Amino acid sequence: MENDKLCIVEEEVMKPQSLGKTARISVSWFVSATVLLLAILFLPAITAAQQKARTVDELANMYDVGSCKQCHAKVYEEWEKSTHARSLIGTGRTIGGFQGMIRGGLMGAFTKSGVKDVKDVKVEHLAWCFKCHLPQIKDATDQVAQELAKAYVDADRATLGKVNINCLICHNTKAILHKWQDGEPEKGVVYGSKDGPHPDKYPAMKQSVVMKEAAMCGQCHGTGPNFEFPQPSQCGTAYGSYLHAYVPAGGTETCQDCHMKRDGKGHLMPAYRDPDMAKRAVDVDVDARGYKFLLKAGDSIPTAVVTVRITNKAGHRIPDG
Ligand code: HEC
Ligand code: HEC
Ligand code: HEC
Ligand code: HEC
Ligand code: HEC
Repeated sequence: MENDKLCIVEEEVMKPQSLGKTARISVSWFVSATVLLLAILFLPAITAAQQKARTVDELANMYDVGSCKQCHAKVYEEWEKSTHARSLIGTGRTIGGFQGMIRGGLMGAFTKSGVKDVKDVKVEHLAWCFKCHLPQIKDATDQVAQELAKAYVDADRATLGKVNINCLICHNTKAILHKWQDGEPEKGVVYGSKDGPHPDKYPAMKQSVVMKEAAMCGQCHGTGPNFEFPQPSQCGTAYGSYLHAYVPAGGTETCQDCHMKRDGKGHLMPAYRDPDMAKRAVDVDVDARGYKFLLKAGDSIPTAVVTVRITNKAGHRIPDG
């Protein structure tokens, strides 16, 4: 169809006798037809790109990582078992914490939050937590915030488990820190250690200069209170103690060195619940000396002096997060 029209236009333009009005009409008709055609072809793509997710399922689809499993099976399996893969649920305590925040906070003590019911919840009411627990909330509408708030109130793990900190959050959304310098993360790109083609629906690989740096993790394992929100709170703070205590004391390892590489744990990124990590947490040095305390002749009291030295070997306070 398109080609036929194109041919007719070309024929008319080619004829010397029709170089007058007809040709101009044909050309301008062709131009407007083309513009219309392009608009029809590209409009859905443009609106889709700008459109925000209206349901949790739509948000999960936007950040779908099902395809990654096929080629990065080991990484995928490690990640699947990590707490990042259940960042709205955690070990179970996270659900409880969020229920408290919604019921006791937004709908309770925070009388100026504007939230009386789940129906009043907007993205901004969850963003002060989801900044780290679900950064992709930036691409969702208030409807999604309401669906997730309801899922928390109902302890609906199935819904809360659909969205999480997945491959695309670290290898795209959070892969560029200095955006005035390096620009926003591009669509269709997985960021890692090098540039090149990538055989996936994300067809390019680009180097991220922060992927191996502690600051990469520091974006969510933060430095202290998040003062940018109307209701500042503090949750993850490991990067703060890493920067201000571990590094000044001569520490040279990164989060990735200890949590991904040292014991080959990779994308599991475990902490104290992993026996290997727990062993590495502290050095305990116990020095005990027993003696008899002779009060008076024939009346001695057995006594001991016990000195315990505990050295923190982690890259931050413990406990911390
Ligand atoms: C997008 C935000 C984000 C980024 C980036 C991020 N984390 Fe996390 N991380 C979290 C959240 C949120 C949790 C807690 C999930 C929960 O328990 O609810 C977590 C949990 C953890 C835990 C606890 C694991 C456990 O089993 O107890 C470790 C360790 C960890 N992350 C290490 C890292 C390291 C290392 C990096 C960098 C390579 C990193 N994280 C990057 C948000 C992030
Ligand atoms: C919490 C952040 C985080 C998440 C989630 C994450 N990655 Fe990574 N990934 C990293 C970091 C950091 C490195 C670089 C580690 C290093 O070399 O210091 C890395 C390295 C890699 C590498 C190259 C080296 C290797 O380990 O094989 C691949 C491939 C990779 N990731 C794929 C994935 C896939 C696929 C997923 C999802 C199943 C995923 N990543 C999820 C942070 C993450
Ligand atoms: C058809 C196979 C295939 C699929 C599907 C696939 N990848 Fe890859 N990926 C590769 C190959 C091959 C490389 C390049 C490895 C190399 O050159 O060392 C790669 C490299 C990467 C790297 C860079 C690793 C580095 O060196 O730092 C990341 C990050 C990555 N993939 C993430 C993903 C994510 C996320 C998905 C899912 C959205 C995905 N991949 C899906 C095959 C695949
Ligand atoms: C020198 C090694 C080392 C470095 C560097 C390091 N960690 Fe840890 N981290 C550990 C060990 C060991 C534990 C387990 C101790 C514990 O949790 O009791 C741990 C525990 C954690 C926990 C769980 C803490 C808790 O108590 O709930 C998180 C989260 C974490 N680290 C994140 C990070 C992040 C993010 C970085 C970088 C800013 C980092 N770690 C750097 C060794 C390290
Ligand atoms: C700066 C990033 C950040 C923000 C903002 C944030 N969190 Fe977290 N949160 C984390 C990280 C990282 C962990 C994992 C720490 C760990 O495993 O030690 C975590 C863990 C948790 C846990 C589990 C603690 C445990 O002991 O298992 C709860 C509950 C929680 N967050 C609730 C919230 C709530 C509610 C908000 C909003 C008021 C919030 N978080 C805001 C980063 C953040």
